[in-house]
This record gives sequence, C-alpha cells and structure tokens, in this order.
Amino acid sequence: MAVKTKSALALLGGQKIREGKKFPAWPQYGKNEANGLLRVLNSGVWGYGGTETEKFEKAFAEYQHCKYCVTMTNGSNTLRNALLACGIEAGAEVIVPPYTFLATATSVIEANCVPVFADIDPDTYCIDPKQIEAAITPRTKAIIPVHLGGQAADMDKIMKIAKKYKLYVIEDCAHAHGAEYKGKRVGSIGDIGSFSFQSSKNLCSGEGGAIVSNNKELADKCWSIQNCGRVRDGAWYQHENLGSNYRLSQFQAVILNEQLKKLDKETEKREQNGTYLDKKLSLIPGIRPLARKKESTRLAYHLYLFRYDAKVFGIPRKTFLAALTAEGIPACEGYSTLIYQQPFMVKKQFASFTEWKHTNKSLDYTKTKCPVAEKAASGEGCWMHQSVLLGTKKDMDDIAAAIAKVYENRKELTNYKK
Ligand SMILES: Cc1ncc(COP(=O)(O)O)c(C=O)c1O
Repeated sequence: MAVKTKSALALLGGQKIREGKKFPAWPQYGKNEANGLLRVLNSGVWGYGGTETEKFEKAFAEYQHCKYCVTMTNGSNTLRNALLACGIEAGAEVIVPPYTFLATATSVIEANCVPVFADIDPDTYCIDPKQIEAAITPRTKAIIPVHLGGQAADMDKIMKIAKKYKLYVIEDCAHAHGAEYKGKRVGSIGDIGSFSFQSSKNLCSGEGGAIVSNNKELADKCWSIQNCGRVRDGAWYQHENLGSNYRLSQFQAVILNEQLKKLDKETEKREQNGTYLDKKLSLIPGIRPLARKKESTRLAYHLYLFRYDAKVFGIPRKTFLAALTAEGIPACEGYSTLIYQQPFMVKKQFASFTEWKHTNKSLDYTKTKCPVAEKAASGEGCWMHQSVLLGTKKDMDDIAAAIAKVYENRKELTNYKK
C-alpha cells in the first residue's frame, strides 16, 4: 500500500514531477568522433603539424563570419593572449562585467593589466554600456563584453564607446558559439572574439579554445603567441615574439570538426525550446526569464537563465532550487559570488602580477559596487545548462510544471531548513 504523503512537493516527501526520467547527457558523441580519434591516433601526428587543427580553424572562422581563427589550449588563455596581441601595456585598465566566469577578469590580471568592473543590464545580465562609459579613465585600453548565456551583449553601443575612446574590444564568446547580433556572428564585431571548448560548452572537445578575428595582424600575433613566439613563415627556432605553447592537439581538433557539423541543428533545438520555455515560465508569478533583445537574432543558449523573485515566493533561492531539484529539474544558482568578491581579489593576491605602478596602492575591490550583478548573484539568477534544452517539448513542460508546483506549494517551504 502506498504511503500517503502530507505534501505534494517532492522535497517534503511527495511525488516527483520527473521520476526516473533523465535530461539529455552532455557531451554527446557518436561513431564519427570515435573514428576520428582513431584516425589521428594511427596517423602518428598528434600535435603540431596535423591537418585537423587547420581544417577546424578554417571552418570555425567561416562559421563565426570571420577571416581568421587560431586555436589554443582553452578559453582563458585565448583572452589573455588576445590582450597581449592587441599590445595592451602593463598597468592598463580593461573593463569587464563581474557576472561571468572568473577567466574574463583573471585573463586581464595575467596580461599584467587591471580589471575594472562595470555592472550588468538587469534584463539581459550582459554588461551595461552606460556603466562601461562611467568606468572609463585615461588608462582604459580595452573592453571585454561577455555574451552571457549565449545572448549577444549590446554591441552597437559598445563599439560606439570603443570608437569614441579608442579602445580595443575583445568579445568573450565562451557561451555563444554561433550566436548572432543583428545577423552578425559574435566574435566578428569587435577586434577579437574568444571561444572556449571546455566540456560544458555548446561546442566542446574536453578542453580547448580559439580566437577569431577579421584583422590579419592581430590573428597572426595570436598565432605567434600560442606557438612559442614563432612566425608563420619563420624557422622552428626563430622566436620573434614572447609566447609559449598554447597549442591545441589534433585529438581535440578532430572532435571539434565532428561536433561543428552538429552545432546548427543543436542550436536550433535549444532556441526552439528556450523560446517555448520563456513563454511558459513568464506565466508563473515571481519568475522572469531574461529578456531577449530584438538585436539578438540568434541566441546560442549556453545557459537557460531566469530571474527568481524571493519576495513573491516567500522563500530564498536556495530553498526554491532545492525544491526544484527534488522534482527532477537540474537547476542551480550559477555565479553566486561575483569576481570582485572572490577572496583573492579582495586580498589582491596577484602573485607576480603587481606591476601596476599607478594603481596598485589605491586598488581596492571591496569598494567596487555593481548592484545589479550583486542582486543576480546573491538571490535572483537561476540557471539550467544548455543540454536541458536538447530535450523534448514534454521535458520543457515538466520544467514549467515543476516551477509552477513549487510556486503553488511555496507556503509549505516557509520554515524549510536543510
Ligand atoms: C564566460 C567565460 N569566459 C571564459 C571562460 C574560460 O574558458 P576555459 O574554461 O576554456 O578556460 C569560460 C569558461 O567557463 C567562460 O564561461
């Protein structure tokens, strides 16, 4: 005989919305990836000199509407090396958003520059151009907008500011493979676009990264930096620039070549499901999906992000997410600590990167205030990973049903303690 539970909520012993049903796994692969790996293995050319990297660089440059692509070890080194390629000198300030993965700012420190944080737009969680302009000083040399979750940042305004103040723009496209702003693929709008192919990314090879650009000089400089300072037509032991080994292996490149073939189909699916979910979740009180700007002509949905209002639900985000997870929906709080709040930033623990003569003494990240980002991190932002959006329409209905169920039964969670 079934035990009668007091609550409908799975967290309190009720029946789950999704019992024994899984969302699609990530990464996804098949025979083509396996055969490709074997092909590289048997070729004996596993690193520099293989054809897979070259093939991928050509295809990915084209995919992102760019002339050039240079692969690298990951999407952190790509950002650092892009800054170096632009010739941003030590101590220069680079404007970044605080609601992003650590690397957007640490790459700046690793390029011996100073990250300066500009708040995000409350509707898109991407960097707010008004806040960029307010953060500019005579030492500002570059902006790194992040196309957060796969939606392009406000690039028209960002490029206008960059032109006015003569700043470089390095687009952090780690979440945005194939995303478009007014029909242009991200990475093709600023000076350099930076991508990550780390396991969770929409295009992935375990680890890996690439820069794209329409500027030959910058792309060649990136190529040189990732290949120990060599130059394309130079000799093996001719090091024209300071660089290191940031090269991608042929194993990673062969996987990327296979994964790239599937990216369009997957992006369409994510976009279909994301748009459907936007409509369904907007009907639930206290839940607001991020706004999609009309300029965002193709959204890559690396994350499905929505805003949670703890006042409407009467319970903190942590409890809401625990209840949702118990229903079988894999949602999380995402970036819950902003970069400038991280202990090493507060302590200015930058190892040898302390050559910022004019700024270092006065630099104090505890004085940085980005209220919109702080609200998103501390209790408003909720995330689901892109693989969830590769599910069926029924899977999306389950997500909406579970959130609605938590809302309807929210009062039972008022005194919930883990
Ligand atoms: C926005 C953003 N930028 C940069 C990176 C760094 O990429 P990688 O992990 O390949 O170094 C990530 C990775 O998660 C990211 O999310």
